[in-house]
Amino acid sequence: MPPALKALLAQLAGCVVAFVAARSGVLPAGIWPLVAVQAAAATGTAIALKSAPWWRWIHLGFTPLVAGALLLQIAPGWYLAAFVAFALFYWSSFRTQVPLFLSNRHTAEAVAKLLPRDHPTMLLDLGSGTGSLLRPLARLRPDCRCEGMESAPAPYALSLWLSRRQPNISVARGDFWQISWADYDLVYAFLSPVPMPEVWRKACAELQPGALLVSNSFPVEGIEPYKVVDVDDRRRTRLYCYLPGGPKPLAKKGIRRA
Ligand SMILES: C[S@@+](CC[C@H](N)C(=O)[O-])C[C@H]1O[C@@H](n2cnc3c(N)ncnc32)[C@H](O)[C@@H]1O
Repeated sequence: MPPALKALLAQLAGCVVAFVAARSGVLPAGIWPLVAVQAAAATGTAIALKSAPWWRWIHLGFTPLVAGALLLQIAPGWYLAAFVAFALFYWSSFRTQVPLFLSNRHTAEAVAKLLPRDHPTMLLDLGSGTGSLLRPLARLRPDCRCEGMESAPAPYALSLWLSRRQPNISVARGDFWQISWADYDLVYAFLSPVPMPEVWRKACAELQPGALLVSNSFPVEGIEPYKVVDVDDRRRTRLYCYLPGGPKPLAKKGIRRA
């Protein structure tokens, strides 16, 4: 069951339990006992539906926060504005289960070291966010073409603006599943565990021999990376490097096996 549907069911179940409890007269007077029962029942339902652990905390806090916010009497327009802002940044995260978080400069430097030095290459960032990988990388390797595909409008617009003076960057708005990855020497993914099996299948089908798939933080389950790079940063980033199309002789392509 999709996580968003589980969340909806958990909240509905919480409301039904709270309604029944209120009608049966077992609850003390006031709004907070009702809220507490709703939150507890929603959390219990989320556990029963095997929702991811963070959803349990979200259900536990959801109605108490809504009730608290109502007491503050904030004008409804602010909620709408916050919703629109979040939607523009997170767009289809509820479906793809890939939120927005950004690669740092140290990671870009580590990825730059994976690129062959003797010839220009083409790199694709799957879900390029605000371009925080592409921009430092394109500066480090002005001879390389750094491309990104991003679905969420706000990060895409930001990346376009921030990279406007870097001619070797090109970002497009769209779905990276819908384009061919065959022309790229390195495909970079900083996504989540959820799409990694599909990323692997597409990479195996489309990447040329010698082309690298580099996944930040999320390995492909059951596949041994040919190399793992530990980045010297605070979050201890790990880059899992794969050759989905198999190796290519050094003389032809320049990407070396470990
Ligand atoms: C964790 S962020 C990584 C951003 C950037 N690659 C970086 O390293 O800084 C993942 C991004 O992928 C985007 N995304 C998820 N699925 C996508 C898809 N199918 N097509 C395009 N973008 C997608 C999300 O909107 C999000 O901005």
